[in-house]
Amino acid sequence: MNPPDSPQFASLKGRVILVTGAGSGLGREAAIAFATQGATVALLGRNENRLESTYDEIVARGGPEPAMFPYDLEAADDSGFERLAGTISYHLKRLDGILHSAAAFFSLTPLKQQTLAEWETLLKVNLAVPFALTRSCLPMLESSPDASVIFTGESHGQQPAAYWGGYAVSKSGLAPLTTIFSQELERSTNIRFNTLIPGPVNSPLRRKTHPGETIDSQPQPADLLPWYLWLMGPESRHVRGQVIDCSKGLEP
Ligand SMILES: NC(=O)c1ccc[n+]([C@@H]2O[C@H](COP(=O)([O-])OP(=O)(O)OC[C@H]3O[C@@H](n4cnc5c(N)ncnc54)[C@H](OP(=O)(O)O)[C@@H]3O)[C@@H](O)[C@H]2O)c1
Repeated sequence: MNPPDSPQFASLKGRVILVTGAGSGLGREAAIAFATQGATVALLGRNENRLESTYDEIVARGGPEPAMFPYDLEAADDSGFERLAGTISYHLKRLDGILHSAAAFFSLTPLKQQTLAEWETLLKVNLAVPFALTRSCLPMLESSPDASVIFTGESHGQQPAAYWGGYAVSKSGLAPLTTIFSQELERSTNIRFNTLIPGPVNSPLRRKTHPGETIDSQPQPADLLPWYLWLMGPESRHVRGQVIDCSKGLEP
């Protein structure tokens, strides 16, 4: 299952897509790419300046005016997510996709140095929030003729290793979440759920996980855009309940 070699991406015109972690790294690049293909993008992250930078880039490239949602996912509860979904519905009228790119990370350390508070943050932001935010948006997604929900996995969630601790464990839950959402909803709705594992990418997060690495020795976020555009757009309509590792690719 690879994106086409010479992708002819279908337009995302008219679609509304929510991107978490839209102020930096993969979320920023994907949000700009979705908007460049015509989507109206809801930009979510904590840091307003970074969201504004993404907003400005989209407008400068002639994309539809995005909406900004400065929001701390860690602080939210069910009612907060319901209000957020209500605000998106009120201002943007519809929702055709979510890219869950936001992630919490502290450092690579042995388990004996990790704290309960760190694990609570990791499990909430990286696993419980993708569930809860998606659930709060289901009424809008169910109204879409072709909705795509993308969770962002991490290879150590599939192949855990020493020192990746709570971060790896939190990411390991996304594959079952993908399967369960898919099995429960694929027959009754047009929503598809998949997890995309980017593989190593030069981003602010990568510089935290691999601080000694030479910058630019890894792929850039823009290199992965074919995957994000393909999985968000109608060309991947048949792809449901999959965990897709961009660094490996999968045969159909
Ligand atoms: N880079 C890699 O090599 C790599 C490899 C495998 C998987 N991934 C995954 O790819 C995704 C994107 O990561 P990235 O590499 O692009 O790193 P990044 O630039 O650090 O992106 C993480 C984003 O999460 C947002 N965020 C963190 N906590 C938040 C909170 N409580 N509320 C709202 N937003 C929050 C941050 O924005 P604010 O600080 O503004 O809130 C930031 O924009 C992540 O899910 C990561 O696990 C990355």
